[in-house]
Amino acid sequence: MGAGSTDQNAGVSVWAVLVAAGSGARFGRPKQYEPLGARRVLDWSLDACRAACDGVVLVVAADRAGDDEKADIIVAGGATRSDSVRAGLAAVPPDADVVVVHDAARPYATPALFEAVIAAVRGGADGAVPGLPPADTIKRVDGHRVVETPDRAMLVAVQTPQAFRADVLRAAHAGGADATDDAALVEAAGGTVVVVPGERDNRKITHPSDLPGER
Ligand code: CTP
Ligand code: MG
Repeated sequence: MGAGSTDQNAGVSVWAVLVAAGSGARFGRPKQYEPLGARRVLDWSLDACRAACDGVVLVVAADRAGDDEKADIIVAGGATRSDSVRAGLAAVPPDADVVVVHDAARPYATPALFEAVIAAVRGGADGAVPGLPPADTIKRVDGHRVVETPDRAMLVAVQTPQAFRADVLRAAHAGGADATDDAALVEAAGGTVVVVPGERDNRKITHPSDLPGER
């Protein structure tokens, strides 16, 4: 058992799949390798995974698969985020009970947030995601035309880390479907996904302005 082995998760094997195989089209380059403080964005995400999980599968672009990183297993990703998650999941040991999927581009997620989603799955949910009320009003549109303004009380903006029962996540990904997050695949398969309070600071680095000092 790794650093994540507290009394609370004794006997339960928790693995992280950290996806870092994106090209960063909107940022302009693979943002996970940008400096953030004294380290890279990826190092912060990796350390949070390592603090909360027993093992980490790091998924990187094919040309970086030989790099030395602080992960237990390193594999090459695919063309889409879902493909990359599947590549990571295939390398998770078969005895893992819980799998936590995290975006390398979210360096601010704390180990406590990992613990919260893991605890919700240990408590009986198929999946658990961090969510916050959206700061903006959200509209449903058809092209430029507004179709509807959903009641904000019914909406949450969802983050990673997302934790799942390992068997449920493997089954949800078995069809090779694509979605912007893993919970969507588990929901589509009929699984129960619960929301735990997200972290305000846990923003995803998407554009250069999401990093301090970058514009
Ligand atoms: N990701 C991945 N494999 C892909 C696409 C995305 O592992 N084929 C990872 C990214 O590295 C990132 C996370 O999934 O850590 C969230 O994706 P996103 O923020 O969209 O990153 P990119 O796809 O790299 O950025 P963009 O969409 O702007 O190209
Ligand atoms: Mg992307």
